[in-house]
Order: sequence, then C-alpha cells, then structure tokens
Amino acid sequence: MEDKKNLFSAIQPSGILTIGNYLGALRHFRALQDDYNGIFSLADLHTLTVRQDPAVLRKNIYELTALYLACGIDAEKSILFAQSHVSAHTELAWVLNTICYPGELMRMTQYKDKSKKHEDNINMGLMDYPVLMAADILLYQTELVPIGADQKQHLELARDLAIRFNNLYGETFKVPEGYIGKSAARVMSLAEPTRKMSKSDANLNAFISMNDDPDTIIRKFKRAVTDSDNQIIASPEKPGITNLLTIYSAFTNKTIEDAEKEFAGKGYGDFKIAVGEAVAEVIEPIRQEKNRLLANKDYLDDVLKCGAERAERIAYRTLNKVYRKVGLVQRKRG
Ligand code: TRP
Repeated sequence: MEDKKNLFSAIQPSGILTIGNYLGALRHFRALQDDYNGIFSLADLHTLTVRQDPAVLRKNIYELTALYLACGIDAEKSILFAQSHVSAHTELAWVLNTICYPGELMRMTQYKDKSKKHEDNINMGLMDYPVLMAADILLYQTELVPIGADQKQHLELARDLAIRFNNLYGETFKVPEGYIGKSAARVMSLAEPTRKMSKSDANLNAFISMNDDPDTIIRKFKRAVTDSDNQIIASPEKPGITNLLTIYSAFTNKTIEDAEKEFAGKGYGDFKIAVGEAVAEVIEPIRQEKNRLLANKDYLDDVLKCGAERAERIAYRTLNKVYRKVGLVQRKRG
C-alpha cells in the first residue's frame, strides 16, 4: 500500500444499518480513503457476542459488503474484508487478553448495557468484545479510527493496551487516534427523539434503514414525532424538530441556520416532506446499487477474498512481531 497513514474501521453485520450509521460512519469513508490507506472490515466475529440466526447472519454479511461498496469504498484502493477471514484478529486478541484486566472490561458502558439487554446470554465474548476490537485496530498499525461516540471508551482501551504492551515488551504498536465525525453523528429516534436512533427498535417507524425505499422514507418522516409549537428552529426544548433539522442539514450539506431560514414561516407538514425527500435522494441510489451488487455473490466473495489476502499480509507482520516480543519461538517452515 502507499506511504500514507493507515485508517481502520469496522461495522458489525448485525442487521440493516440506519441513516445514523450512514451519517456517523459510511458517509465519510469514500473521502477518507483518498487520504489514508483505508482498511475496512466487517466485524462478523463481534456479532456472535449476541445470539444470531446463522442464515440471517450470512445474509447480513453480504448485505454489508455490498453496502460498503455502494457507499463508495473502492475495493482496489482500500482493503475490504471480513474479520473472520483473517485469523490474526483472534490470535492477537488472545495475547492482549493476557495484559487486560476483568475490571477494565466490566466497567465498559456497552458491556453493562448489553448485559442488561441480553440477560439470558451474558457470555465471555460480550465482555471480551473490546479486546477483540483492540486487536482489530492494533494489527494494522492504525493511526486513525473513525468511530461513533458510543465506541470512544473501546478506543481508549485499545490505546491503553497498545501503550501497556509497548511498555512491557518494547515498541510494537502504533497508538491509534479516534476520529469522531462531528455534527450529525447523533441521529435520534423519530418516535422518541430523546433516544438514539436504533435499528433494533421494535417500532419500525422510529428509524430509517438504508433499505427503505423513497415512499417508506417519506411516510416515516411524515409520522415523526415533533414538538407542540409550530416553529422550525433547533433548541433543547424541541428535540423532535432539532433532530429533523440535524438530519436535513446533514443530508443537504446546509447549515442548521440556513435550514431554519429556509423553513421560516412554513408548517411542520411541508418541512417533514422536505426532510424525507432530501434523505431519499441520497439513500435511494445507494440502495439500488447495493441491490445490484447483491445479485452477484461471486463478485462479493471475490472482493472479500482479495481483501483478506491483502489484510493478512499486514496483520501477520504485526502478529509475528508480537509473538516474538513475548518470547514465543518462531515456527520453522519448509
Ligand atoms: N464495535 C464497533 C461498533 O459496533 C465495530 C468495530 C469492531 C470496530 N471492531 C472495530 C470499529 C475496530 C472500529 C475499529 O460500532
């Protein structure tokens, strides 16, 4: 790869993504891959920490591969691969486990939230999740990690583990920096705008999925919960309208102030339709392209194969170094 800094990001293939995922992550990748060596992964092993239906997971892995490509990931310029195809991820996670303490993992907000949500399945993987994520990042000598605000704590742990390992065994890992997309990183539920938009919401009208067609998108925005007065301005007392303004501004690249001016004196009804149309205009071509790619599984398998081969070369260089540093004996080949 070129002499640029490495950027690593991963998304779990655990279901249909929402426009929150798009604005927070996917949208930035196309541009970032010009300035960095982009390494984009499907965190398929991470999804196993919550019980999955195998057939659905398989489908989701192809969906996400196609979606990455439809959002502009260039599989030749960047590396696009499935985490489970490069076994160095789980191998490095094991070594990192030996320098990570249970207390560090038990106080992770996501672990606590997910333990509450999946009380019947609080498994070791759920707790160890951030260590595997640290391995993902550190294997590639990553300098930049674009993440949502909810992953900040996990990135902090990856940095701590890198520093701890370097102190114990000598300089081995680059210490990564996080990149949290500003503004629209937080897209809220359309039904309860004080909660984050989530694809696992039981109320399908609460979120816009990357699979929604334009009619569905507009219908959902029409139903979005708004606030009682009729002013289209952003304010903490008006979470519903603020959320719609944020979404509109992100999808049109207009500032919130400009959007407020544009809709001054107009009613909520017209505004909601305009938001829906702005979102559909961006999402629909991506959805169509994704579906076109999905029809060709052989092509997607090929993309993942090439990606894994390229990822593996970088990953094993780091893993071998780690094994050497901790005192393991190099296996002789041939
Ligand atoms: N935990 C991340 C999420 O759910 C996904 C992820 C796995 C990730 N490994 C990563 C993100 C490495 C950034 C870097 O959003």
